[in-house]
Amino acid sequence: MSQTLSTRRNETAEWWRSAVVYQVYPRSFADSNGDGVGDVNGIRSKLPYLAALGIDAVWISPWYPSPMKDAGYDVSDYRDIEPIFGTLAEADAMVAEAHALGIKVIIDIVPNHTSDQHVLFQQALAAGPGSPERERFIFKPGRGPLGDEPPTDWQSAFGGTAWSRTTNPDGTPGDWYLRLFTPEQPDVNWEHPDIRAEFEQTLRFWFDRGVDGFRIDVAHGLVKDQSFPDEDGMPFPLPLGTAEEVNHPHWDQPRVHEIYRAWRKVADEYTPTRAFCGEIWVGRSDRLAAYLRPDELHTAFNFDFLMTPWLAAPMKAVIDETINSHAAVGAPPTWVLGNHDLCRPVSRYARPQELVQPLDRFLSHYLPHPADFASGLRRARAAALMMFGLPGGAYVYQGEELGLPEAEAIPFAALQDPLVVQSGGENLGRDGCRVPLPWTSAGETYGFSPEGAEQPWLPQPTAWADLAADTQDGQQGSTLEFYREALRVRGQRAELGDGAMTWITTPDDVLAYTRGEHFQCWVNFGDAPISLPEGEILVASGELTAAGLLPRDTTVWLAV
Ligand code: GLC
Repeated sequence: MSQTLSTRRNETAEWWRSAVVYQVYPRSFADSNGDGVGDVNGIRSKLPYLAALGIDAVWISPWYPSPMKDAGYDVSDYRDIEPIFGTLAEADAMVAEAHALGIKVIIDIVPNHTSDQHVLFQQALAAGPGSPERERFIFKPGRGPLGDEPPTDWQSAFGGTAWSRTTNPDGTPGDWYLRLFTPEQPDVNWEHPDIRAEFEQTLRFWFDRGVDGFRIDVAHGLVKDQSFPDEDGMPFPLPLGTAEEVNHPHWDQPRVHEIYRAWRKVADEYTPTRAFCGEIWVGRSDRLAAYLRPDELHTAFNFDFLMTPWLAAPMKAVIDETINSHAAVGAPPTWVLGNHDLCRPVSRYARPQELVQPLDRFLSHYLPHPADFASGLRRARAAALMMFGLPGGAYVYQGEELGLPEAEAIPFAALQDPLVVQSGGENLGRDGCRVPLPWTSAGETYGFSPEGAEQPWLPQPTAWADLAADTQDGQQGSTLEFYREALRVRGQRAELGDGAMTWITTPDDVLAYTRGEHFQCWVNFGDAPISLPEGEILVASGELTAAGLLPRDTTVWLAV
């Protein structure tokens, strides 16, 4: 691991334009105290592993106090650490140690909703209908003569109505409150100045502790159409390429941009500026780019790329669309292949790619199709190398560097995701990508917890012994060594990260691009091996043929 800190991209003022950010899902990363749930000291113990992987930053999914009705995305206190995960002092120590290793730290902020146990929501419930405390959330009387029908037809992202009814202090049925996710996640009212002040204070709280940025949960959902019209089945997000303009009552409302202009001012009070990355599902690249105007967010995940099947033409189209729409606002693209909500890339790419439909992203979308996991892994590696060469920054979700597939056979009774129940079992949810990591091939929990610990909060597939980090460490050709090599080379090549790219003319099943004069990336999506131009192979996602040809589902970086 010869990466020297001086070659790290994150030492530049605008580090986020080029950074490779590793997503840590704290529940499933590393458990230091043996309770079967990962924790802050677990993250801390693996910082040397992350430094050796060659990433520039980590993004840590919510670590705040939470009743865990949505795995921590139901926050009851934004300025502390959940006791299952540790303490604020441990978090401070972790951030300081990450910084000492040259790793930036991004944390998650959840501004669309709180937990129903948050003090502001508890105060709102106690204060009763018509009180000023209730104005901080979205309470409305029901429809129908008895008020027993939801105030609008809005649907929860997890299924069913987006409204829950309250009970009045005297026991009679009361008003309804909006919650676009679970009943335990009430949406806050962003029209209210207290809410704006509250979240800006939270930003400062963590920025003052040295945190380098925030990933913003459901960033396109905060503002609601104040006339509360029905949504009438309006689809959202729209599939990529949809030209139609829609005005959805609670997604991507135009006034949401005001909030991020205010947040940007807060970030810019700090030196160097702190960075934001939005989780924004809009499905139209121009509307995504609108969040990345110079006075708004720095970056936003490009989910269109993630949902594109492993086929040359649609991949080329989505890359072009992304680069062009981001260039129009001067923002860098942010590439991503997976996260804690989405079926892992190995399992997505294992399915016949012609069958992938727009917006397919959950295990339940892929499960009905036959799987070829060897191809899935080849393609996931090829996709990663293609991605790391593209202009902009990239995210790696924990376990991608081990080539982990989705855990597809978790017993139904062990599933924890509220999406499963709320969808009536129709969606098998997101637990398959949240299974605790295998660190060692030996041991009851493959090194996730110390020996003799509680069972991990989700069961681990036994086949994961072969994918454990220690099995792959030092093994030439392993996915872990491939990631290390790719990120080491990426860190050394000045032409990678932010900047321009140019396509090379190729046959239909091949994509190839240049970065600068001396770097080329070649990707073979077709069945037949292809010949490569003269040059030195810098990194390959898989072995070349004996004759030096690039086989199917393989990517190489060449110095020419
Ligand atoms: C985001 C999170 C997801 C969560 C939802 C509600 O999409 O990534 O995990 O369930 O928001 O907070």
